[in-house]
Amino acid sequence: MKKLTELLESNRQWAEKISKEDPMFFETLAQQQAPEYLWIGCSDSRVPANEIVDMLPGELFVHRNVSNLVVHTDMNCMSVIQYAVEVLKVKHIMVVGHYGCGGVKAAIETEPHGMIDNWLRNIRNVYKKHRDLLSVWDHSHQQLDRLCELNVIEQACNVCDTTIVQQAWANEQELTVHGWIYGLDDGLVNDLEFNASDAEEVDDQYRLAISKIEILRKLAQGPEKETQTARSLWDKVRSIFN
Ligand code: CO
Repeated sequence: MKKLTELLESNRQWAEKISKEDPMFFETLAQQQAPEYLWIGCSDSRVPANEIVDMLPGELFVHRNVSNLVVHTDMNCMSVIQYAVEVLKVKHIMVVGHYGCGGVKAAIETEPHGMIDNWLRNIRNVYKKHRDLLSVWDHSHQQLDRLCELNVIEQACNVCDTTIVQQAWANEQELTVHGWIYGLDDGLVNDLEFNASDAEEVDDQYRLAISKIEILRKLAQGPEKETQTARSLWDKVRSIFN
C-alpha cells in the first residue's frame, strides 16, 4: 500500500502556517465563500489559478479542463458558470489560456489521440474558422501561439453566449468576461483585451481582439519574424493601438 505521506505532511504545515498568520482564517472561510472571480483555465499543472494571481483560498472560483474550453453542452462547465454567476454573483469571469498548450497543439496534429480528439474537435473548429488568418505562420510555434490566443477569444465569446451570462446582463447584473493568456516561460499573463460587460459589447470586443491578431499577422511578415516572442509582438500591437 502506497500512502501520500509527504503530501499530507506538506498540507499540515501549510494549514499551520496560514493559521499562524491569521488564527481565524479557516474558521471564517468555512462559514461562506464570496469570490469575485471565476477562472476558467487549462488543467495543465503549470498553470495554477490561485498562485498566478497570488490569491488566497476563498478569492477565486475555478473551473479547469483540457485547453480551457467552454462548450455549451458541457454540463460541468455550465453548472460552474451558473453557480458562480447566479449564487456567488462573481463580477468577473476570465478565460485563461496559456502558450504552448498541449491540447491546442494536439488539436491540429494529424495523428489520432483517441477519445480526447472529440474534445479537441472544438479547438480544431477554431482553427478552421481562422484558417486564413493563421496560414501566414505555416506550422511554426508562432502559429500555435496565435491559435492559443484565438482559442481564448472564442471561448470567452462562448461564455458571453451562455444563457446564464445573457440573463445576468439582461438583469443588469455587474459582470465582465475577460480573455487572458499565460506565458509558461515568464509567469506573466498577457491580457488579450477582450473585456465584455454587456451583450452589446461582445461583437465589438470580439472584432477588436481579432483585429489585434491581424496586426500580429502583418508583423509576422516583417524581417525579424523568427525571433519575435509573443510578448514582444504584443508590445508592438499595444503601441499601435495606444
Ligand atoms: Co493547456
